[in-house]
Formats: sequence, structure tokens, C-alpha cells
Amino acid sequence: MKILNFGSLNIDYVYRLDHIVKKGETISSESLNVYSGGKGLNQSVALGKAGAEVYHAGAIGDDGKLLTEVLRAAGVNTDHIKVLTEVRTGNAIIQNDKEGDNCIILYGGANQAITEEYVDSVLSDFGKGDYIILQNEINNMDYIVKKAHDVGMKTVLNPSPMNEKILKLPLEYIDYFILNEIEAVQILGLSESEAAEPDGEKLIKMLGEKYPGACIVLTLGAAGSVYTDGSVVIKQPIFKVKTVDTTAAGDTFTGYFFSEITKNGNDSESVKEAMKKAAAASAIAVSRPGAAPSIPEPDEVREFLYEKL
Ligand code: RIB
Repeated sequence: MKILNFGSLNIDYVYRLDHIVKKGETISSESLNVYSGGKGLNQSVALGKAGAEVYHAGAIGDDGKLLTEVLRAAGVNTDHIKVLTEVRTGNAIIQNDKEGDNCIILYGGANQAITEEYVDSVLSDFGKGDYIILQNEINNMDYIVKKAHDVGMKTVLNPSPMNEKILKLPLEYIDYFILNEIEAVQILGLSESEAAEPDGEKLIKMLGEKYPGACIVLTLGAAGSVYTDGSVVIKQPIFKVKTVDTTAAGDTFTGYFFSEITKNGNDSESVKEAMKKAAAASAIAVSRPGAAPSIPEPDEVREFLYEKL
């Protein structure tokens, strides 16, 4: 069984600042670092490092070849990545404040040049029982979800960054949702008052009722994460660390979680183990700067858990 991650590849320009810039304000950054990133790439790096058989599909420009090297170094198959000559690689301008929080501007570039012909050619190499992992940083998502369903793949959706395009997808075809509270509120179409104080347990119950065939992983920030497949509810607290940079923490969680699930299945014990490893890997990522470079190796995750438990 193979995992195809059809997702974004970005060059991240990370500006370290005292605070996130306000409207009309000009501030100088303490540093600028350039990292490999993109939710798709980060999740593939985490999957690859965690030991999954992962194939990345997506597009870059001539200026993004370094990104394929980063993926290969993490054990990811990059044969399906398309290099376009007429468009530049996607990028992200990331402000990282002294608390380690961030805000991000995306420029789609090659990530927004995915054609139906390219999707057809990639998916012709995958079939029934294989997994496809998707985020929301590439175009033609609707076509990909339908096509993956037609060929019998299991679909994982991380609806991030959330926007109206997600609500137009055939969400009934999704086998796994991995999302945060804000994304859950929007997918559920909750009113402002219902969304004001979102309650994780209530949200996951509502998601389970709306998508009865799907498994759901809801991340709750400092409150940890919770999983349901409709019959069990499994909770995982966070591991507390000093926050340096939260970029790619969610992507690291997703990669480590699905590496475990695709290897060991989704019985309760396997899910508990997957959530624990994913929480540990993302805690390590939070304690380091950058997106893909902050994602730990499995040995580091094992050592971290050994020390914490
Ligand atoms: O999830 C973090 C990622 O979001 C960054 O690497 C950036 O490229 C944006 O896609």
C-alpha cells in the first residue's frame, strides 16, 4: 500500500520579529531565513522520516529544485513532481514573533498550475487501497478528490488553509479529516455565537454525525487532540516544550500520525500510539525554527517519549 501526497511545495521566507506587523506599520526583522516548506512538502517529509512509503506529486518552477532534494533526503519518492518553466515555485512570507507564533502570506505559483491531465497521469500509478493525502494549497482539488474516489483510494483531507473551496468539495468521499477547531467550525457552518467558544468534544461529535463514514482527528492547540471513528473517542494531550516556531507543527503531526495508521491500521491501540508519536513529533518541531527542517527523525521522537513518559 502506497501513500500519495498531492500537495504544495514552497520556499519559505521566515522573518523573525518582535511582533507581527500591524496595518500601516513598518518594522525591521531580526533575521531572515529561507527554508523548504509548503504544507504538502512538510507532510511528505514527516511521512518519509517516519518510515512511510510516500510519493509526492505537485509542481515547482525551475527555482524549486532544492525542494525535491529535501524530499528525497527524507526518503520521499519525487518521480511525479512536475517542473514548470513558465511559472515560479510557490512561496510563503512568514512572520515569526518572539512567542513563536506566526502569520503567513502565500504566493501559489506552480502550486496553482495543476492540470487535469497531470492529475490523471499521476493517479494512473495508484489504485485501490492506496492512500492520498491532500491539503488546500493546490488548485483542481475537486477533480483530484473525485478521481481518487473513482480509483478506490482512501482520501485524507487536511483542509488547511481553510477557504470556501473546501466547502465545495465532495466531502462525502473523505475517509479521514485532520483539522483544527477553526476549520471544524467552518466545515460545520456554525453560527458566530456557536463558534465563539468552540468545544472540542462537541465539535468532533458533530463532525462524526455529519460525515458518518469518516475518521476524524481534531487538533485543539494547547488542549491536545482527539480522534473518533464513530465508535471510539481517543484523546491525546500535548507535550509541553518551549515554543520557538510553530510553523509546520500541524504538518508534522499529520505526517507522523498517518505514517503509523497506514502501517498499523486504525484499531484503538494503533490510533493511541499514532496520536502519541504525532504529538511528540510536533512538540519537537515547535521547539525548533523553520518548517521542514524542524521535523524530527524517528529516533528523536523515541528518545523524547522515553524522557517524557
Ligand atoms: O504549515 C506550514 C506551511 O504553511 C509553511 O511551510 C508555508 O509554506 C505554508 O504553506
